[in-house]
Amino acid sequence: MAGLFPPWSDPLLRGALLAIAGGSIIALAVLMLYVRTPYNDQRAYAVEQPVQFDHRHHVRDDGIDCRYCHTTVDRSATAGIPATELCMGCHAQIWNQSEKLAPVRASFFENAPIRWNRVHDLPDFVYFNHSVHVHAGVECAQCHGDVASMPLVAKVQSFSMGFCLDCHRNPEARVPNYHLRTRRVTSTDDLLARAGARVEDNPLLTCSACHR
Ligand code: HEC
Ligand code: HEC
Ligand code: HEC
Ligand code: HEC
Ligand code: HEC
Repeated sequence: MAGLFPPWSDPLLRGALLAIAGGSIIALAVLMLYVRTPYNDQRAYAVEQPVQFDHRHHVRDDGIDCRYCHTTVDRSATAGIPATELCMGCHAQIWNQSEKLAPVRASFFENAPIRWNRVHDLPDFVYFNHSVHVHAGVECAQCHGDVASMPLVAKVQSFSMGFCLDCHRNPEARVPNYHLRTRRVTSTDDLLARAGARVEDNPLLTCSACHR
């Protein structure tokens, strides 16, 4: 009796099933890899800005300190972006004919702040505080990379919860002289364990530290 399907359809069906199974595994693998790449959380892209402000000229070449422009970084939660007046403090005198600085002059004379695009932006349900980190001795570069060599600022870290917790679990590993600076000797896993306390008691790992 002749089969319902010709004999050659058998390997064809097997091949097709294999392709579907294999294909979905590959597709899944590609997706799983993708979320771990810099492209997924914009780490790879420099953010375009209304003025071509270049950290390389200002920080690396001219040696201006980060705090000269990001004035609140060591005393408040936010670092702050400089106002146009600060730029004009120099640029009223130097490079005051530069085409690239036209939007800065316009902002100054029209009294309209420059609308810089944000590079880093945590979701609103996360609390972050710059001054706490600066005082604990965490370098800007630990979180922002080498901004002094960036023509346009780009994100270099994901700022996922895992990124924050990675350091909070054991700040000594990343922050030189951590406990000398903070005198919070009880805040790390190692010291907690030695004192017989539970690692879960680390205040830097409690949910309400960052989600308040
Ligand atoms: C002359 C002023 C000036 C100095 C000095 C300066 N910055 Fe900036 N910075 C700016 C301006 C203006 C912006 C906004 C435009 C931009 O994102 O490039 C900015 C943006 C940034 C951003 C991105 C902010 C965001 O939107 O998330 C980071 C991070 C940053 N600066 C870090 C630093 C660090 C670290 C230093 C020192 C190594 C530094 N800056 C020195 C003026 C300055
Ligand atoms: C302490 C002085 C100082 C301050 C403050 C300052 N700049 Fe500058 N800026 C310079 C110097 C010096 C240069 C030339 C750097 C070079 O070419 O090496 C420059 C160059 C520039 C240029 C490139 C100009 C061109 O034609 O190539 C831009 C754009 C610029 N600055 C924007 C800004 C903005 C925006 C701010 C404010 C957030 C700012 N600067 C604050 C000193 C300053
Ligand atoms: C422990 C990590 C960490 C360190 C250290 C750090 N930053 Fe940030 N920075 C962040 C995060 C996270 C944001 C985004 C905050 C948000 O979206 O609310 C940010 C945002 C910024 C911004 C944008 C404006 C703002 O305040 O949101 C600037 C400018 C900045 N940082 C500059 C600096 C400078 C300069 C230093 C060193 C003196 C520094 N940061 C050290 C994590 C860090
Ligand atoms: C490289 C290390 C490092 C990274 C990365 C880091 N932190 Fe921290 N953070 C610290 C240290 C160290 C302290 C404790 C300072 C102290 O003991 O005074 C701290 C303290 C804090 C505190 C204050 C906790 C309290 O109760 O006083 C908050 C909130 C916080 N971090 C949020 C964050 C968030 C959100 C991120 C990620 C975007 C982050 N941190 C990334 C090292 C880090
Ligand atoms: C050191 C800071 C920090 C601590 C401590 C922390 N978180 Fe988070 N959490 C974050 C950050 C940063 C994000 C935002 C991640 C992002 O933008 O993708 C986040 C995101 C989340 C989200 C949203 C999930 C998502 O995928 O967007 C949940 C839910 C959450 N946290 C729960 C917790 C719980 C529960 C705890 C305590 C066991 C905790 N967090 C402790 C920093 C922290």
